[in-house]
Amino acid sequence: MSNLPQAATDSRTFVAEPAVGLSGSLRVPGDKSMSHRSIMFGSIAEGVTEVTGFLEGEDSVHTLEAFQAMGVSIERGGPGEVRIEGRGAAVLKPAGRALYLGNSGTGMRLMTGLLAGLGIETRLTGDASLSGRPMARIVDPLVSMGARIGTEDKGRPPLHIQPGPRLSGIEYTCPMASAQVKSAVLLAGLHAGGVTTVHEPAVTRDHTERMLRGFGVDVATDGLTASLRGGQTLSATNLTVPGDISSSAFFLVGGCLSPAGSSLIVESVGLNPTRTGVIDILRLMGGRIEVRNERLQGGEPVADLFVSGGGLTGIEVPEHLVSLAIDEFPALFVAAAGARGQTLVTGAEELRVKETDRIEVMVQGLKALGADIEGTSDGALIQGARLRGGTADSCGDHRTAMAFSIASLISDGPITVLDCDNVDTSFPGFAELANRSGLDITVQGHGATASAAG
Ligand code: S3P
Repeated sequence: MSNLPQAATDSRTFVAEPAVGLSGSLRVPGDKSMSHRSIMFGSIAEGVTEVTGFLEGEDSVHTLEAFQAMGVSIERGGPGEVRIEGRGAAVLKPAGRALYLGNSGTGMRLMTGLLAGLGIETRLTGDASLSGRPMARIVDPLVSMGARIGTEDKGRPPLHIQPGPRLSGIEYTCPMASAQVKSAVLLAGLHAGGVTTVHEPAVTRDHTERMLRGFGVDVATDGLTASLRGGQTLSATNLTVPGDISSSAFFLVGGCLSPAGSSLIVESVGLNPTRTGVIDILRLMGGRIEVRNERLQGGEPVADLFVSGGGLTGIEVPEHLVSLAIDEFPALFVAAAGARGQTLVTGAEELRVKETDRIEVMVQGLKALGADIEGTSDGALIQGARLRGGTADSCGDHRTAMAFSIASLISDGPITVLDCDNVDTSFPGFAELANRSGLDITVQGHGATASAAG
């Protein structure tokens, strides 16, 4: 029997008609990881932080509202503009109510580290998906620093952070490749006594380390180790958030699967080297992606990506690229389903504890669309071929919903994608933008705005 969650009945449905290719030029919304961190760090800094390119998705907006509830003055201006009046970490006060963080593991895990370090009594809650996600991975190291954090059964949310004595820095070896765990421990370490050091088993995104440096914090990094001394204060800075490479991934895959001769430009994409695994993997599959106009924005590399169509070829995905492309696997499974030959993904067991079990959801969904795919404990084996279409259940996961929509480029029949509301957590306006680039998605259900292209 499938262990997939029940489909929500009142959530939007995407119906994607078979599409030929993507072309033109587009810009995706701001990076989700950086948007969360901009609010958290700006809120505890001294002075005014102005953010442009902020992702106005549900996840990062929940983080913004959580800091407002703790007394921080944060104003939203034009699209993507946020102004945070930081008065230092000491002025944060308990919200007096539970802080609801929606679908966001990043929001919950990073805020738990930060607020446990500050000893601010807080209850953190989330939606059904977040409420089922493992929190022991952060609670255990934080408790060993002296934090007091209550959880539900089996270490699940809601989390209840209680005040207590000042935390002590630790040296922590992370058992899994997780930027959220690394960041939670480092953020607790910001207000702990002594030095906090985290060793990780593989490279994970380093936005916390880079952005803290931008706020004037001395963070030492050496290979797979990051450390900082507690008691440092943050000075406000202005931040420009680049386009999210994770949101770009659907278009990179779609562009590669488009016919030879077609071309697509994705502008102003963040190319932090801890995030570019998707480009490396697509290039290994024969994808033609050129990086142009490379520049630095707020300490992060940014560039325009030129994608030429022509198809992909199956590969064994090198395991060292997995943590550098962890959020892009739903899109990469579609790349593999449309590639010539066989693709093997291994070493990706972390996919099982994302917003959904992304191995299970992608395997079931692609099978329902006619793909030849078998899941394994840590990945999947996929034989590329055209799909026949049908109905795929995203199970409320934003990235699987967008991945199944992109599969319309390799499908002979329409694809109905169920339970798509959470696309708004990371990519508001996805269907409209995809339609302008060559997809043909109709959004059905409440609040539907996108209609068929043309
Ligand atoms: C994130 C880290 C990753 C990623 C998530 C965002 C972050 O999670 O999947 O979407 O912003 O630090 P893990 O740390 O669980 O791998």
